[in-house]
Amino acid sequence: MVVPGSQHIEDKMYHPPEGLQKDAHVPDFNCYLELYKKSIEEPDVFWKEVASDFYWKKPPTGHILQYNFDVTKGNIYVKCMEGAKTNMCYNVLDRNVKDKNLGERVAFYWEGNSPDHHEAITYGQLLGQVCRCSNLLKQMGVRKGDRVAIYLPMIPELVYTMLACARIGAVHSIVFAGFSAESLCERIMDSQCSILVTADGVYRGEKLINLKQIADEALEKCREKASATVTKCLVVKHHALRTQNGDISNKLQTPWDAACDVCWDEVMGQVSEQCEPEWLDAEDPLFILYTSGSTGKPKGVLHTVAGYLLYTSLTFKYVFDHQPDDVYWCTADIGWITGHSYITYGPLANGATSVLFEGIPVHPHVGRFWEVIEKYRVTKFYTAPTAIRLLMKYGLDPVQKYDLSSLRILGTVGEPINPEAWHWYHEVIGQKRCPVVDTFWQTETGGHVLTPLPAATPLKPGSATFPFFGVEPTILNEHGEELEGEAEGYLVFRRPWPGIMRTVYGNQERFENTYFKKFPGFYVTGDGCRRDKDGYYWIAGRIDDMINVSGHLLSTAEVESSLTDHGAVAEAAVVSRPHKVKGECLYCFVTLKDCREFNRTLVDELKRQVREKIGPIATPDFIQNAPGLPKTRSGKIMRRVLRQIARNEKDLGDLSTLADPKVVEVLFSQRCETAA
Ligand code: WTA
Repeated sequence: MVVPGSQHIEDKMYHPPEGLQKDAHVPDFNCYLELYKKSIEEPDVFWKEVASDFYWKKPPTGHILQYNFDVTKGNIYVKCMEGAKTNMCYNVLDRNVKDKNLGERVAFYWEGNSPDHHEAITYGQLLGQVCRCSNLLKQMGVRKGDRVAIYLPMIPELVYTMLACARIGAVHSIVFAGFSAESLCERIMDSQCSILVTADGVYRGEKLINLKQIADEALEKCREKASATVTKCLVVKHHALRTQNGDISNKLQTPWDAACDVCWDEVMGQVSEQCEPEWLDAEDPLFILYTSGSTGKPKGVLHTVAGYLLYTSLTFKYVFDHQPDDVYWCTADIGWITGHSYITYGPLANGATSVLFEGIPVHPHVGRFWEVIEKYRVTKFYTAPTAIRLLMKYGLDPVQKYDLSSLRILGTVGEPINPEAWHWYHEVIGQKRCPVVDTFWQTETGGHVLTPLPAATPLKPGSATFPFFGVEPTILNEHGEELEGEAEGYLVFRRPWPGIMRTVYGNQERFENTYFKKFPGFYVTGDGCRRDKDGYYWIAGRIDDMINVSGHLLSTAEVESSLTDHGAVAEAAVVSRPHKVKGECLYCFVTLKDCREFNRTLVDELKRQVREKIGPIATPDFIQNAPGLPKTRSGKIMRRVLRQIARNEKDLGDLSTLADPKVVEVLFSQRCETAA
């Protein structure tokens, strides 16, 4: 468990700026404590008040939360406002347009990959487009409860489609458009999606990606593997690309199958802008989002309507201290949970104005983020430590060219932030005026669970500080005993909050085994954590076989299996190694089959293989030849030893359980110093 730069951990506190406290929703720490107490002692009262902001076709009665967290007492379940009826899309759009008169307010400033491409979309326009898309999906045969796979870049149509699903009660399953055909196919098959929505292509920086071709390959693979469930593929033509590059269709040569493919642009004009929302039960599914699992097969994390609405809207409001004149920007991709909760649902539920950014931080220049902040006068900015570390490398010049005086609050998410990056963010970007909210959460938690509140919580760089309302963390030792005061161990939660996942889609057993079996009575995060003398929580990183690369969790088992799929590889073991920008990166040991030679060509092939099987985010940084792997006598690979070799830590401790200690020496002598 290594926090990058953890050796510099400091204990100094940074207090909220007074200017921010004046109008804040939670203006000081005592107010936080009072609200927290209420959320724990009177959860029904607390959440009913939150619910009263929203529209309920049938209002909630009885307890807001019902649950069982103890596997020894029966099945694990969480229910929020059972019996109530509502619609997510109605609450985030119609309610704002009709009840709050916000039809003219900008919901999104879309900013394309190229700075020449941008578009402002009001709440009124968004509602119209979402209704059209809802009608279109219905016309294509999508019904309540059906799963819709969405494989789109960060264009407005992505938001239209997800909200259209929410409107008609279909379950969206968004697959990050950087995933490979294989990964897309696996996800489509697991949840038996009936429709795939994609785009012809997209530029990521300078690189043109032929999305439709990848989507077609994925569908082809589905057909090969089983009876295909996808009946239609809805294809958006990327407008910005077309206006700028007239020759894009030639470049892409978009494959087209008239029997299956439907052109978004042709059909959207033919459907009505009116569509009645489908009134759903509070516990009906809203979406599935896949996250890496330690066995290699991704898990379909399932979230439901009402609890997710309450939780994302409340965390957004408090953690970013949302005010009506804010311009908020979260740089994540909607293909990850951060984008679901804090680009789409949380901000829209609050009637917020956001930037929807398609680009990357370094295109067309390394000051792009700061340029966009100046352009839209962004007040709240939310990004990942890996992006901060990347941009730090370019020094002050690209930052100082732009006016960042509009910023009020900064946020981070996805991985522990090392104090060096924290200070740069706080001083250079926030000019010491802006609190940095370090938000800890997971795809599974639906929203922030440990987080500072910007006007209330004194900050310690690198700590996600305290629990959000309704969340009760505790730290356990290996024996499942709760640790009081200063302690380090497993981070677990004692009770649910409305936004927690409900199950692993189609696999309740895996849900219970993964999160509830190790310590009955608790939800187990899989993260190690320390609580300091002041009660601050410090996330130490994953304690399972998961590696956090640039804020994205990857399963070592999944990478290993794509390596061993190569004909030359007999066995593979993947461990994490610290990386200056990515936080952690993949260090792979491969044992080759007899008579295969380890050389540059093979290394390149293996890297390509992993990219193709999983996607570019999983590209290994290091691939080392391993004539033998360190194994116990019972044949279990000792990953601890491999991690130490990858990090060049010579003191290996007790190796007495190794079957053949000599392999360690050999591995050390062939270690990769620099990236492959
Ligand atoms: C890690 C992303 C430290 C953690 C929202 C968690 C963090 C995993 C933080 C979930 C943070 C996320 N500090 N670690 N502020 N935020 N993590 O599902 O290991 O993609 O379990 O959700 O990221 O990753 P996921």
